[in-house]
Amino acid sequence: MRVVVIGATGQLAHDLMPALAAAGSEVIGARHGDIEVTDLESVRASLVAARPQIVINTAAYHKVDDVEETPARAFAVNAVGPRNLALVCRDLQAPLVHLSTDYVFSGRKGRPYVESDAVDPVNLYGISKVAGEMALRYLWPQHFIVRSSGLYGSAGSSGKGGNFVELMLQLARAGRSIRVVNDQRLTPTSTRALATQIVALIGTEAYGTYHATCQGECTWYDFAAEIFRRSGLNPEVAPQTTAESGARAIRPAYSVLENAHLQGLGMDLMPFWQDALVTYLQERVVQRSQPIDSLA
Ligand SMILES: NC(=O)c1ccc[n+]([C@@H]2O[C@H](COP(=O)([O-])OP(=O)(O)OC[C@H]3O[C@@H](n4cnc5c(N)ncnc54)[C@H](OP(=O)(O)O)[C@@H]3O)[C@@H](O)[C@H]2O)c1
Repeated sequence: MRVVVIGATGQLAHDLMPALAAAGSEVIGARHGDIEVTDLESVRASLVAARPQIVINTAAYHKVDDVEETPARAFAVNAVGPRNLALVCRDLQAPLVHLSTDYVFSGRKGRPYVESDAVDPVNLYGISKVAGEMALRYLWPQHFIVRSSGLYGSAGSSGKGGNFVELMLQLARAGRSIRVVNDQRLTPTSTRALATQIVALIGTEAYGTYHATCQGECTWYDFAAEIFRRSGLNPEVAPQTTAESGARAIRPAYSVLENAHLQGLGMDLMPFWQDALVTYLQERVVQRSQPIDSLA
């Protein structure tokens, strides 16, 4: 299978491209310099030249707080982008895999969200991702929309400038006192585990919307505590509220996703979040950092 992965320099793509290649696919990584998803003609020129049998879009604008001030860029990348990709993929008869987010939900449900739950985003980033999902469903039925949560991977998020695990390790090793948000529950998900799951899913023709996060749930504070415990570090770490963190955008208080559709197919391969973290810590090779409130 000839696969184009858009967002090739990003965190998820870094793990997805080798996973696809290991499964026997011919992988073409499209970097931002190769394709501009907000520009229909750029999308058409790149994809027509690549002749993909399937396209995976990992490109996004996901600086959640910044989107509140600069929504135009987010809507261009997160909504017009999938629209452009859907149109060209439809012309090429190539299925389109598109990454989405737990932030399409408000968190008010208070129990894990399944794919059939109505979306009700509480920030502009989530609204832009909902718009992208809707454009794709409307334009091109041969799609997989894959919603995930709290991604971390060895490349670090290109858009956010790092990942939460590396930031925690760096702060701890610098002897800094650390405050972490303790009123948002989610499921941190390693891009390595997600990549394995996506490769398995796209081998089917079971198009539709999928939740794909690790199993279990925790707060960002719990996640930080587990990072330190598993790394043998003992920094001074205190919980804080989202309000205290100074975040501009509202966050869902409870954005845990249940991988219900994957379970229905008998192909939920996602590990528990603690196990995925241990795998990451064992294999980590890259260290980056960034301010804490832009990651949570
Ligand atoms: N990170 C999370 O915690 C999280 C949680 C839930 C869902 N997701 C979703 O998962 C997906 C992958 O996330 P990630 O962490 O791997 O993202 P990432 O590291 O920020 O990678 C995004 C990639 O897309 C490229 N890109 C950005 N704008 C583009 C454009 N207009 N045209 C073409 N390429 C563009 C970026 O290149 P440049 O950097 O060169 O611009 C980068 O290579 C996204 O859809 C995101 O919404 C992420």
